[in-house]
Amino acid sequence: MGQSIAVMNTKGGVGKSTLVMALAETLSAYHGKTVLVIDSDSQTSISIMLMARERWEGLEQARRTLVDYLTNVVLAGTSPDWKSFVATGVSDVDDVDSVYLIPSHMELPLLEREISAKDRHAQLRRAIRALLQDAKRYFDVVLIDCPPGLSVLTETWLREADFYLPPTKPDYLAVRGLAVLGNFKDQHSGDGFAENIGVVVNLKDDSIASEEEWHARLAADPTNRVFSTAIPRRTYIQRAADFDPPTRSYAAKYPGDSGLAFRQVTQELLGRLAEARARPQAPTRAEPSRPEEAGSANPSPAATAPAGAPSAPSVRTGAGQAAAPAPASGATGPVLVERASPQRKTGVA
Ligand SMILES: Nc1ncnc2c1ncn2[C@@H]1O[C@H](COP(=O)(O)OP(=O)(O)OP(=O)(O)O)[C@@H](O)[C@H]1O
Ligand SMILES: [Mg+2]
Repeated sequence: MGQSIAVMNTKGGVGKSTLVMALAETLSAYHGKTVLVIDSDSQTSISIMLMARERWEGLEQARRTLVDYLTNVVLAGTSPDWKSFVATGVSDVDDVDSVYLIPSHMELPLLEREISAKDRHAQLRRAIRALLQDAKRYFDVVLIDCPPGLSVLTETWLREADFYLPPTKPDYLAVRGLAVLGNFKDQHSGDGFAENIGVVVNLKDDSIASEEEWHARLAADPTNRVFSTAIPRRTYIQRAADFDPPTRSYAAKYPGDSGLAFRQVTQELLGRLAEARARPQAPTRAEPSRPEEAGSANPSPAATAPAGAPSAPSVRTGAGQAAAPAPASGATGPVLVERASPQRKTGVA
């Protein structure tokens, strides 16, 4: 079985999407790992980072996004194959051949609103659990790019993923954002919660003394499990967000200390994942509430529709409609192979 990691921080702009992209590309290029990236952010940043805009628009039109999958499963009660929502051959790095993506859609907040209005939280949780469980049969690592804040869907990933990984800037507000996540976990972990695989300090400028201080402060708290390498603030990393076909090499995209930092963080992450895997099996998470209890047995401020809110509009395909149509030609394909097959390359030449 693979392992799943929700990359999450309630604070925005700390480099969550950038880190998801770089981790996925490094895991593929240097470690031969198969990686599924799930874009759970309506901003669709990671989708656009990993594929050309036109391709994402094609998938949007073909209704092959996370929003379409969840609309079908959670609202319409149909059972489409999640694999047909997976885009293959993503990333503009030529050394990368095993990164896959379930793209996002800007209407994700409407879906979440409808899920709340119809009290489908338990169905959502079951759908996410089943998706992750099955995806881990095919992928070594599943990385979920979460939006800032604590939405209904983000909370569900946090409860169902094996781990969460919070990137942070070494500054006051980002560290406060991290504390919000920690407090939320402390107060609401009874219903299952991912384990902290460790904080990654990003956007660090070594020449700024206060950033060094915030970094040291974070590292001093063992519960943060701060990774030993911080990702530096670099123009190359900022530019990496621009999908740039035709493909470039890993070294061209992440030159010098940028690539080195991502490789060191990836190496450390793999060590932590292996260590977690070697531990005795944790008890199975509690079953989500039954559908008829949904929304009341497991309430949370983030998951509850505002009192008196008007009924939400139907999202995209809408409840009761048929499963999504066939994918756009060449957009996705049945290329996935269960992880048992030993066909991965082992590294970059
Ligand atoms: N190490 C870095 N050096 C330079 N720029 C960076 C670095 N990491 C991220 N950035 C840039 O910072 C901005 C925010 O990064 P990113 O979108 O990954 O953050 P995020 O946490 O995913 O944001 P959001 O909360 O909006 O989802 C982007 O312009 C990105 O290119
Ligand atoms: Mg992001």
